[in-house]
Amino acid sequence: MSSPTFGLAGIMGWPVAHSRSPKLHNYWLEMYGLPGAYVQLPVAPGQLDLALPGLAALGFRGCNITLPHKVDTLKLVHEVDANAKRMGALNTLVVQPDGSLKGFNNDGFGYIQSLLDAQPDWRADSGPITVLGAGGAARAVVLSLADRGAKEIRLLNRTPEKAQALAAEFGAPVKALPWSQRHAALADVALLVNTTSQGMHGNPALELTLDALPRHALVSDVIYVPLETPLLAAARLRGNPTVNGLGMLLNQARPAFHAWFGVMPEITPELRRAVEATL
Ligand code: ATR
Repeated sequence: MSSPTFGLAGIMGWPVAHSRSPKLHNYWLEMYGLPGAYVQLPVAPGQLDLALPGLAALGFRGCNITLPHKVDTLKLVHEVDANAKRMGALNTLVVQPDGSLKGFNNDGFGYIQSLLDAQPDWRADSGPITVLGAGGAARAVVLSLADRGAKEIRLLNRTPEKAQALAAEFGAPVKALPWSQRHAALADVALLVNTTSQGMHGNPALELTLDALPRHALVSDVIYVPLETPLLAAARLRGNPTVNGLGMLLNQARPAFHAWFGVMPEITPELRRAVEATL
């Protein structure tokens, strides 16, 4: 349902100036000839309860939610989609016809789609999976992999209690292993995922020896600045296929755009290049 009225959406967070979402959604608005705008909504911590009820009154179709509001927003919306509830965080709000707010989390969808974009015949059950990190990004990755039928997910985090807590919450197939075992935990895996902040611009590289990793294993990093982290570079040089974090960002935006503007947008090579040019 593309409406002739001007459509408004945005990214709510603190800070938001670094976000690539305005570039992405405004590109799609233009590409599909839809009248509308996607704007920055800088909302300081403590102001969230004042900002959210204003969305409907200001004529917004909804917005994305980013740090530090992804968890706090859960308690402030009228309805939360089941997937966002399990995630314990949301990243998308949709203003309902009656003006109420419904929360969604599309990060897991975006992650799985990014793997499928790289390898259309990728399957979650094709072998063990090792996930490094146990923060918010790890929750989305682990939950979506488990939902896709992963049989064994080895979860390793510098602070072991967080990996153990996630394993206890999500149950089989997630198993927490000590951080010191991360090199050996690569044996036999079909997929390795980095969800830690190591390798991100300004941070040191992840300390990881890839010797045990099978050469056919897919190596994925949720980081997209830089596009090729030291982990992905090392994996590529030894012949492993790799997926960077940009695909997750681009794909999580698709269902949100659809909910606000009525079109399921496509990720074209031109769009990818336009966003990459901002990195
Ligand atoms: P996000 O929401 O992006 O996942 P986060 O919740 O802050 O961000 O999580 C960051 C992840 O990077 C955590 O798993 C963190 O490990 P801890 O739980 O031990 O803090 C991991 N991380 C950060 N610095 C790290 C380092 N120097 N070595 C290994 N892991 C690190």
